Amino acid sequence: MHDTRVLVITGAGVSAESGIPTFRGKDGYWRNLDPAKLATPEAFARDPKLVWEWYRERRQRIRNAQPNAAHGAIAKLAQHADEFLLITQNVDDLHARAGLPMEKMVQIHGDIFVTGCCRCDFSYPGRGGSPEPPGAGALQPESGRLRSIAPTSEKDVDLPRCPECDVLMRPGVVWFGEQLPLDELQRVEEYLDGGTCDPVIVAGTTATFGYIIDWALRGRRVGGELVEVNPEETPFSQFATRLVREPAAIALPRLVETLVGRHSPG
Ligand code: APR
Repeated sequence: MHDTRVLVITGAGVSAESGIPTFRGKDGYWRNLDPAKLATPEAFARDPKLVWEWYRERRQRIRNAQPNAAHGAIAKLAQHADEFLLITQNVDDLHARAGLPMEKMVQIHGDIFVTGCCRCDFSYPGRGGSPEPPGAGALQPESGRLRSIAPTSEKDVDLPRCPECDVLMRPGVVWFGEQLPLDELQRVEEYLDGGTCDPVIVAGTTATFGYIIDWALRGRRVGGELVEVNPEETPFSQFATRLVREPAAIALPRLVETLVGRHSPG
């Protein structure tokens, strides 16, 4: 592929075939609780233990999962394109484990394996970094910064606390109603400012958030392809130049083969 600039945007549907439930699908509920109500600052303030339990289970499920053919196809496309950016709403690490370099990826809703302080900037990195802190699902703390902290109440006994300021720590994800991370937003803007893309591929997302549709439309080169990969119709469908109504693990490998073949020399 020569002179190609590609933008891919993914959502939970891309990890569905790895066994990670989507948010709005029928498997998204946990203990009869709606994820849209758990993934909020209010839910965490009300019951941090419950919210941490949900995230610990999700972390474990992700650790046990494997990237699927959709993640593999996206990593392959990145390898062949001259310029490439993936914006993923997924907080799992399956794109990375499929071989997509971090510098070609923006996790716009954060990283589930990061544990950050609710007050200060202190955080433990995700799976690519050092181990998780006690109470966040870790086994053996190795970081020199860790120290044992007596829980302040019985209720919070298992919850991670910041070694700097002792307040509760939270998963490094963006909850409903929260700002998107500024540094990641800036990386998206820089890529969009750097030139338009063909194709733009939007896969496995309900495109609930306006900014997702906005980035896809802004990224598209005049006359370029705007592909949606999703078995269901979404608010984005009306803008797509090509609709692929199939699961991502089937559609994306085929689409990428065509794109890579089309742009190969000879
Ligand atoms: N292949 C492709 N798409 C699929 C598949 C599949 N195998 N299975 C389901 N889908 C589609 C569904 O049709 C749906 O449109 O994936 C989409 C999943 O939608 P959501 O659960 O809403 O996930 P997402 O769009 O990523 O949610 C966006 O909302 O809950 C918040 O922050 C959370 O990042 C999340 C954001």
